[in-house]
Amino acid sequence: MQYTNLIWRDGQPYSELFDDIYYSSNAGEVISGESEFQHVFFKHNGLPERWQERSNFVIAELGFGSGLNCILTMREWLKHCTECNEEKTLHYIAIEKHPLSAATIVDLISRYPELKQFCDELVKNYPPAIETTHSRRLFNNRVVIHFKFMDVCHALENHKLNVDAWFLDGFSPAKNPDMWSQELFFQIVLNSSEGSTCSTYTSAGWVKRNLQKAGFVVNKVSGYGNKREMLVAKLPIIQLNFSRRASLKYKENPWFEPPIQKPASVNNATIVGAGIAGLSLAYALVQRGWTVTIVDKHGDNLKQASSNPAPIVYPRLSINNDIDTEFFTAAYCYALSVFKSLQVKSQQRFWLDGGVLQLIDKNRITQIINKFQLNSDFISIVDGAVAGKEKEQVAVNYASAGVVLPAILCDVLKSECGSKLNIIDAAVTHINYDGKKWQCLQGSQLIKETDVLIIANGMAINDLALSLKFPLEVIRGQVVALNESQISHQITKTLNADVHITPAINSKHYLGATYTRNSRNVDVSQKQNRDLLASLNKYYPDNFTENDISDTWVGFRTMSKDRVPIVGAVPDESFFDKEYADIRHGNTTTTYPPASYLSGLYLSAAHGSRGFTSSFLSAEIVASLINSDPSPVSKRVLDYLSPSRFIVNRLKRR
Ligand SMILES: Cc1cc2nc3c(=O)[nH]c(=O)nc-3n(C[C@H](O)[C@H](O)[C@H](O)COP(=O)(O)OP(=O)(O)OC[C@H]3O[C@@H](n4cnc5c(N)ncnc54)[C@H](O)[C@@H]3O)c2cc1C
Ligand SMILES: C[S@@+](CC[C@H](N)C(=O)[O-])C[C@H]1O[C@@H](n2cnc3c(N)ncnc32)[C@H](O)[C@@H]1O
Repeated sequence: MQYTNLIWRDGQPYSELFDDIYYSSNAGEVISGESEFQHVFFKHNGLPERWQERSNFVIAELGFGSGLNCILTMREWLKHCTECNEEKTLHYIAIEKHPLSAATIVDLISRYPELKQFCDELVKNYPPAIETTHSRRLFNNRVVIHFKFMDVCHALENHKLNVDAWFLDGFSPAKNPDMWSQELFFQIVLNSSEGSTCSTYTSAGWVKRNLQKAGFVVNKVSGYGNKREMLVAKLPIIQLNFSRRASLKYKENPWFEPPIQKPASVNNATIVGAGIAGLSLAYALVQRGWTVTIVDKHGDNLKQASSNPAPIVYPRLSINNDIDTEFFTAAYCYALSVFKSLQVKSQQRFWLDGGVLQLIDKNRITQIINKFQLNSDFISIVDGAVAGKEKEQVAVNYASAGVVLPAILCDVLKSECGSKLNIIDAAVTHINYDGKKWQCLQGSQLIKETDVLIIANGMAINDLALSLKFPLEVIRGQVVALNESQISHQITKTLNADVHITPAINSKHYLGATYTRNSRNVDVSQKQNRDLLASLNKYYPDNFTENDISDTWVGFRTMSKDRVPIVGAVPDESFFDKEYADIRHGNTTTTYPPASYLSGLYLSAAHGSRGFTSSFLSAEIVASLINSDPSPVSKRVLDYLSPSRFIVNRLKRR
C-alpha cells in the first residue's frame, strides 16, 4: 500500500483516481467543507443530541479521505464532553483504501487555523501506509480512531463493530459504485447497533433501494449545496434479546461467538502475571478507565520470559497463512505505536528502532511482498553482499523494527498506569468461581476477589486448577551478552538469521537465542554459548571470542500446540462438549446455541518467541471484549486466537 495523491482543481481537493472532489465547499465558508459536514453527516445522524446519556458512541466513516469530517467530529465531541463534564469515549472507525499522507492532510487542514490542535493530534497519531487496522487513542482517551486502511468490503466483512452512526462519504455513486453496493449495505447492517443511522449526500434511487433491501428505513430530506435531496436511513429496533441478536451474526460458527461482558458496577479487574502480557493488559484497561490489580509470584520484579534483556520486534509474515499474517502485521504495527507513544514519556530509551535485517529465502519473501503489497518503509530487499548469506537467501530490512528493553518498558507501563494499578506479590495456587466472583487463592488464603479475571501467567496457565487445560510446549533458550569490541562497531543494525545479534546497547551486544525442547534446566550451558558464537562467526567472523561473554540469560518460551497465542474469553468446556458434540458431522445449521463462557474469565498467553510483538494487540483484544468496545481485529483473527479453538478442534476430530 502507498499513500495516494490529492490535487487541487478549481480550488477543490480532488482525486484523479476517482475523478471526484473530496468534499463540497460553499463560497462564504471559513472552513471549507464544514457546512456539508454539519448538514449531511452531523445533523442528519441526530448529533449531538444522541450523545447525551451515552458513555461510548461509535461512528464509522466510509472513506476517511482528508480527515476533515473526522476532525470536525472530534471537535464537536470534545466540546460535548466539556459541556457535560464527563469522561466518555468516541470510537471513530475511519475506513480508507487510498490513504493520503500525513503531510497532505497537514497541508489541507492548515488552511483552517482553528482546526490546528485537532489536526496536530490526528497527525501525531497517523498510521503508516500498511493495510491493517491501526487503533489510536487521542485526546487522553476521549477519542479512539480505528484507522482501517483497506477496502471497505474487507473492513466490514468478518467484523462486529456495533456502529451507532455511519457517514457514507465514498465519492459519488456513479463514480464509485463499490462504496454503495447491496452487499456492502448488508455488511453495514451486520456491523450496526440497534437504532443505528446513516446519512449521505446522495439521493440516487438505487442507493436508496439498496439501503432498504438491507433493512434500513430510508427517507429523502433536503440536501446540501447544489444537491436538492439527500438520504437518511435508520435501522429499526428489532425486539430481539441481546444474545439472540448477536448469534445471528455468528451463525456459521456459533462456538466462536465472543461473550457479552456483563456491565460491572465498578470497573475493577484482576490479572495473574506481571510479565509483558499482564502489564500490557493492565495498561489497556487503565486507558479505558479501569482499576487493575496484578497478582504475581515475583511481585513487580520481572523474572520470567519477559525479563529477556533485549528481545527484537519485527513482523511475522507467512505466504500461505493469511490470518497469521493479518494478526502479526496488525500486532507489529500496534506494538510500534505503543512504543513510540510511551517513549516520548520516558527519559530512558527502551525502544531502539534502528531496523532489523533478516536473511530469508528470496523466493518466499518476494512472493510475500507482492501478495501483501508491502511498501519499502515496511520491508525492502537490501542490495549488496551480506556475509554468511546463502545462495537462495536475500537480506531484507524492516526499517521500523528494532530492539526493546523490557526492564525500562515495563517500568514505563507501570508508571503510566499510576495509582490505577496495584501489584500484589503472591503465588496463585488456584482460582475458584463462587457463583458471583472469581477468587485468587494461595493455598487456603484468599488473595483477591474479582468480577473480571485475566490469566496471563506465561508457562503456568495450566497450573491454576482450572479444569480446562491448554496444549502447551515450553522451549528453553539462552541469550548471551557480549562486551562491545573494537571491531564490533561494524554491527550497526540488528541482524536476524539462524541467530540474531543487536548493535551495542550500553556497551553490550545481545546474541540469541538457542532453542531447546523439553528442557526446564535453568543452568547456563557453556556449550550452547559456544554454538551461538560459532553461528555468529558466519556473519561477523572474528568479532568475538568466549572471553567477550559477560552474561548469559536463560528463559522459557511458552508455545501453544499450533504456535498461535491464546487470547480471549475462556470457554465453558462442559457446555461445548454437550452442545457441540456432533459438529464433527459438519452439521453447521443454525440450530446450535451461541458459545458459553466462564463468566468474566479471560486469557492472554502462549506468546511464544514473539511476546513483545503480540502482547499489546492481544491486550487490546481482551480489553475491548471486557469493555464492550469495537474489536481491534477481524472476527477471523478473534477465532484464530480464541481459547475455544482447542475444544472445537477436538470435537471436530472425535
Ligand atoms: C530465549 C528467548 C528469546 C526470546 N526472544 C524474543 C524476541 O526476540 N522477541 C520477542 O518478542 N519475544 C521473545 N521471546 C519471547 C518473550 O520473552 C515472551 O513471549 C514473553 O516474555 C511472554 O510474556 P508473558 O507475560 O506471557 O510471560 P512471562 O514473562 O513468563 O510472565 C508470566 C508472569 O506470571 C507470573 N506467574 C506465573 N505463575 C504464577 C502464579 N501461579 N501466581 C502468580 N504469578 C505467576 C510469573 O512470575 C511471571 O512474572 C523470547 C523468549 C525466550 C525464552
Ligand atoms: C469523498 S472522499 C471522503 C472525504 C472525507 N470524508 C473527508 O472528510 O475528507 C471518499 C474517500 O473514499 C475512499 N474510497 C473510495 N473507494 C473506497 C473503497 N472501496 N474502500 C475504502 N475507501 C474507499 C477514497 O479514497 C476517498 O478518500
